Amino acid sequence: MSFTQSGKRRIYLDHNATTPVDGEVLARLSSWAMEWGNPSSIHVFGRGPKTRLREARDAVARALGCSPLEVVFTSGGSEANNLALKGAMSAARARGDQRRHILISALEHPSLKRAAMSLVRDFNAEVEVIPVDRSGRVKLEDVQSRLRPGQTLLVSVMLANNETGVVQPVREIAQIVHAAGALLHTDAVQALGKMPFNLRELDVDLASFAAHKFYALKGAGALYHRKSVPLDALIDGGGQERFRRGGTENLLAISAFGYMCTRIGEVAERAEHMRALRDAFESQVRERISSVSITAGESPRLPSTSSLVIPGVDGETLLMALDMDGFAVSTGAACSSGSPEPSPVLLAMGLSRDEAQASLRVGLGWSTTAAEIAEFVDSLVRVVERLRGLRGFQVEESKAQAVEHA
Ligand SMILES: Cc1ncc(COP(=O)(O)O)c(C=O)c1O
Repeated sequence: MSFTQSGKRRIYLDHNATTPVDGEVLARLSSWAMEWGNPSSIHVFGRGPKTRLREARDAVARALGCSPLEVVFTSGGSEANNLALKGAMSAARARGDQRRHILISALEHPSLKRAAMSLVRDFNAEVEVIPVDRSGRVKLEDVQSRLRPGQTLLVSVMLANNETGVVQPVREIAQIVHAAGALLHTDAVQALGKMPFNLRELDVDLASFAAHKFYALKGAGALYHRKSVPLDALIDGGGQERFRRGGTENLLAISAFGYMCTRIGEVAERAEHMRALRDAFESQVRERISSVSITAGESPRLPSTSSLVIPGVDGETLLMALDMDGFAVSTGAACSSGSPEPSPVLLAMGLSRDEAQASLRVGLGWSTTAAEIAEFVDSLVRVVERLRGLRGFQVEESKAQAVEHA
């Protein structure tokens, strides 16, 4: 679906950064907003909001495959990641559990990495990073060999990566983490709405979600935590969320999140639609742009995400040229764009700085069409040719080939 921004028709291909608000959500917003009472109020103004909060929680739980009692509403994915790590560690300490070893994958979002690092400062934790190779997949033996039974409290491995889309073997990781008596958290922010999954099947203890990656509003998210896992609050307040997250609930955003969760049944079909377009995009790009490579192209990936390395261009310059042409894409995580450093995720996978700097992330959405992809490929080919021409890339490439043949 195209949008008009600054008087120009735009095609949005950055759905990993955030998703547009679904039309059905927009249509319901004013009626939800009219129920402005506080869900904690006992009087009539609180009753409707309280019911809607319960309905939203039920819908989220049904969509994720857990009990409503296991859903804590948060402000989004970053807060859910922080609550998972800090809340679990604090609760463990309060119960006399002295385990201080934490394992996180090298692919995690900054909100998870920074939350883990804060545990070093606040709980004298030892945080160890599980490395990855060019496949972008965490290897079971790398988790197994780092687990320290009796010392490892928690392991965190994301379900799907925001930059490459690589999907991790979370269910298999859960088996070995549980065998060592540790907890498993997964950041499932990117997975929701892009691939079908079920928390019971994944068998994780904690999982993070953000509503704005799922066609709802910014300002709501959730942390799933297994009933048996003790969790301390980050925000103390009036007992909301069963004392796991204080503060009057953002009912408008939570209502939108709950509504989108009632549509979880659409995900399988939407995923197939995006997969067909993404695969067509990648094969056209391979055909029409020389030397391009698809990062982790052989790994299980979200059907909507394509991370390309296009030698001979600078990702930031490419992004700006495409923006001028009317296409919104990304060069790495949107949260870190503006920073001149190449993506830590791509570097952790063993890409060189040059490769990481020549990378482009394309994130398709539910409403992306084949015509939009065709227009985008044409623009990308044009822009890449122009930028490569300016940098004399063809000359360098033929020189490299000449050296190879020598
Ligand atoms: C994998 C992942 N985790 C967490 C977050 C943070 O979510 P939020 O922006 O809702 O705080 C993001 C956002 O880009 C993400 O991609």
